Amino acid sequence: MASKEIRRKFLEFMESKGHKIAPSSSLVPENDPSVLFTTAGMQQFKQYYLNPGVAKNSRIATSQKCVRTVDIDEVGDSTHLTFFEMLGNFSFGYPNKENSYFKKETIEYAWEFLTEELGVDRTRIYATYFKGEKGVPEDKESLELLKTIKGLKEIKPQGFEDNFWSLGTENSPGGPTVEFYIDEIEIWNCVFNEYVFRNGKYEPAENKGVDTGMGLERLATIMQGKDNVYETDLFTPIIKKIELLATKSGVVANVRIIADHIKASVFIIADGVVPSNVGRGYVLRRLIRRAVRYGKLLGIVFFTSKIAESVIEIYKDVYPEIKKNKEKIFGELGKEEEKFGKTLEKGLQEIIKFEPKFNEATGFLEFGINGQALFDIYQTYGFPLEMSLEELDKIYSKHEIGIPADFKEDLKKWFEEEKEKWKNQFQEELKKHQKLSKTASAGMFKGGLADSGEEAAKLHTATHLLQAALREVLGEHVTQKGSNITAERLRFDFSHPEKLTDEQKKKVEEIVNEKIKENLPVVCEEMSVEEAKEKGALGVFDEKYGDKVKVYSIGDFSKEICGGPHIKSTGELGHFEIKKEEASSAGIRRIKSVLE
Ligand code: ALA
Repeated sequence: MASKEIRRKFLEFMESKGHKIAPSSSLVPENDPSVLFTTAGMQQFKQYYLNPGVAKNSRIATSQKCVRTVDIDEVGDSTHLTFFEMLGNFSFGYPNKENSYFKKETIEYAWEFLTEELGVDRTRIYATYFKGEKGVPEDKESLELLKTIKGLKEIKPQGFEDNFWSLGTENSPGGPTVEFYIDEIEIWNCVFNEYVFRNGKYEPAENKGVDTGMGLERLATIMQGKDNVYETDLFTPIIKKIELLATKSGVVANVRIIADHIKASVFIIADGVVPSNVGRGYVLRRLIRRAVRYGKLLGIVFFTSKIAESVIEIYKDVYPEIKKNKEKIFGELGKEEEKFGKTLEKGLQEIIKFEPKFNEATGFLEFGINGQALFDIYQTYGFPLEMSLEELDKIYSKHEIGIPADFKEDLKKWFEEEKEKWKNQFQEELKKHQKLSKTASAGMFKGGLADSGEEAAKLHTATHLLQAALREVLGEHVTQKGSNITAERLRFDFSHPEKLTDEQKKKVEEIVNEKIKENLPVVCEEMSVEEAKEKGALGVFDEKYGDKVKVYSIGDFSKEICGGPHIKSTGELGHFEIKKEEASSAGIRRIKSVLE
């Protein structure tokens, strides 16, 4: 069964069960600074769980583009991917909203779809449910429902780690899950959002909801009788193309990494991201450069666009945006590949500096290199260990010429031992570095910000100035309705009934620039939400806030609840300019601004 057919069958099945089929949202989440990329189908509907009134439909189903990069180092084995598609059905506002549903229908639909629509043999399927843990009771209701399914092979109780799903952020939905497995592979995660995470606890939710997710690649693996995702039709044309271009044989994992990373890059570029050194752009840069490096190991150069062509061919009908942005995708990939090629060349120059010297006393060659130095070269020039070792092999071979045969063997053994040592040192450095960057990114996500680079921090501060200026010019009805910041620009949505006049825009710009000139201090204080309200701090009060909040004040001009980060004083901002003012939705305006 072709993956196209699986996707279509799923959506048609859910449509027959009264679901509205919605398009996949962009990989770049709208107005949600807490994540870099869309990682699950429920993300675009997050607010519907707590406020089902805003959902037009109580039943929705999608096939969602997702990117998850936490396991990027695992890509290449048989299951990990950075880009994948999630098939999902969702229900909001149970039991009050018309047509909403909960556990019974979810379990019945899943079983019917797997066994009847896809025709999976019942003996291959088992299910798991939440046995209760961490103060959250056992999901008896799901257990009883699962027991009524005829032919279900086994029901396994599992704990919080496996069968409870939550975003873990304040005021976000969460709940126990029922998971369906086929041939021991987890296929479908059905989340029953009956709790809200508040003040560190899961409290029963007034409105319950359903959020399910089924990985299309895994399902295709099963339906096509393959051993791993790379053997399915979602990958084979890409893999074939890489193998065709390769001039050296290499490890299977290397081919897979290229396929996965170029696929992810194609979709990320199509959704408007370009390679850079911060946030999303940095992830994209990393994906492309990793692919290029692994390409080099296979003896392929300037190839990313060719691989991208195969990706577009597979998905063009389902996600037309990748076909529409074809030229842009090829352009960005090509540019990045060229840029990286130059950096690698510099790295190579560093490596070949390590000419070995003959030590008269020991009778050995000495390289004067160690794993730390190789790691530095990797860090600075992106020159990976495998490539460094390959170059050092070449250098070694050159020096081997002329060495007497009986000595050669010893020398070779010594060289191999040295290489092992360098590899271990390199891995140690890498681990240290990963630990550091994990800590840094944990801090980054805690503040709820996807992009905490210097430029983004400036734009955050500028956003506060903008809101205060808008309130001054237009009135106190102006409140924040959304904010999205990249390293290049800020985007701010706010309530206001009509288009701003040129004069109003000019006035707002003038005020912000004046406040920049005044070089006002930006001060952060922690306090309770109540205290913040009392002090007149602005905030999106129908949103997620913890016990303690951070309040940023800019002189006497602005006071807002915000996770930060911000710069220390407004003088650092430069010149503020409104680039665009437009309608975002009814009664909501959108401003895009830059700092020059
Ligand atoms: N949101 C759930 C997941 O990502 C379905 O597994």
